[in-house]
Amino acid sequence: MVPLILLVAMAAGSVAGVSGQTATTEPSQPAAPPAPAADLAAVLTPKTGDAPAVRQFKESGRNPYYQDPKAIADGFRLARASACTHCHGESLGGLIGPSLTNGNWRHVRNGTDKGMFETLYFGTSAGMAAWGKSGSLTEDEILKVIAFVRSKYRGDPKSITWE
Ligand code: HEC
Repeated sequence: MVPLILLVAMAAGSVAGVSGQTATTEPSQPAAPPAPAADLAAVLTPKTGDAPAVRQFKESGRNPYYQDPKAIADGFRLARASACTHCHGESLGGLIGPSLTNGNWRHVRNGTDKGMFETLYFGTSAGMAAWGKSGSLTEDEILKVIAFVRSKYRGDPKSITWE
């Protein structure tokens, strides 16, 4: 009983903390509708000037930063700066936004790196901002944030769909 009460109190405290800071933590742009296929294809086409990891990702569909400790550390910093952790929780276990650690995706596409890239680039119609399209995160930064998100997975290793 006591741990449960503590948890509820902690969650309430965090939510209050977030709502007290909405001006700085809420993304200013409204959540975007799902990306039209042509827009997605255009974004995923390699371009001159792509960072090496971005080019590799566009060619292979795999995130080259996966399990790279430095990229994960950068991704964590970016996730804090972009308020991902305000909505999804400090260890991404879920708060205002859903848990990103158990593999139970609201949008099945988030089980692949390409799918999560699409979510972070274009947003969703139900609460996620278009971080890439709005210019808040570069494509390279999105890949680092994805590496951080994958590092927080706590589900069954057999259920990993992005390796
Ligand atoms: C203002 C609160 C908020 C912020 C800030 C936020 N999210 Fe979200 N996020 C949500 C909500 C709400 C959803 C559910 C959207 C839906 O169902 O379409 C979501 C969904 C997601 C999903 C898909 C989850 C699934 O189950 O399919 C991913 C991945 C994600 N967020 C990652 C991030 C990352 C990474 C950041 C930081 C760049 C971030 N979010 C910032 C609220 C937020």
